Amino acid sequence: MDKIQDALNQAYTGEAKAALRLKVYAKKAEEEGYKQMARLFRVISFSEEIHGARALRVLREIKGTEENLAASFESEKKVAEVAYDQFVKLAEEAGNKEAVLHFSQSKDVEETHAKLYKQAMSDFMEERETTYYVCEVCGYVSDGVLPEVCPVCGAPAKMFVPFSE
Ligand SMILES: [Fe+2]
Ligand SMILES: [Fe+2]
Repeated sequence: MDKIQDALNQAYTGEAKAALRLKVYAKKAEEEGYKQMARLFRVISFSEEIHGARALRVLREIKGTEENLAASFESEKKVAEVAYDQFVKLAEEAGNKEAVLHFSQSKDVEETHAKLYKQAMSDFMEERETTYYVCEVCGYVSDGVLPEVCPVCGAPAKMFVPFSE
């Protein structure tokens, strides 16, 4: 990787992390009743996202949707099988129960992401329309059905966010 590519990758990673952190800060500010601060965090988060996306485009990492689906499927498999698998073991060895729960539930959800991509790859030409429901606790994604309880973390139906757009 040349130096410019490396710098662009670092910019992309840094901006992506900052954007997420600021979204979480905004939520916290909202809970604490600081409406304007929440708005500021959301605005800066959005601005960081623009920087991150721009770096990705300069890196020429954005391909056509069919290729993007295939790449996303591969990366989900890796995350579930390699990264989270190791993280679960590390957390178990350290006796950190909170981290074990987080890593193992995330691993289960990453496996379902891979399945959703696989399904989408076979549906690619059909333009099947479905509403997805995402568990706000663990990130579990349900395809077309609002679950009574989350199969991964046990959260009730009211914790699911629908995506129909
Ligand atoms: Fe994922
Ligand atoms: Fe869940």
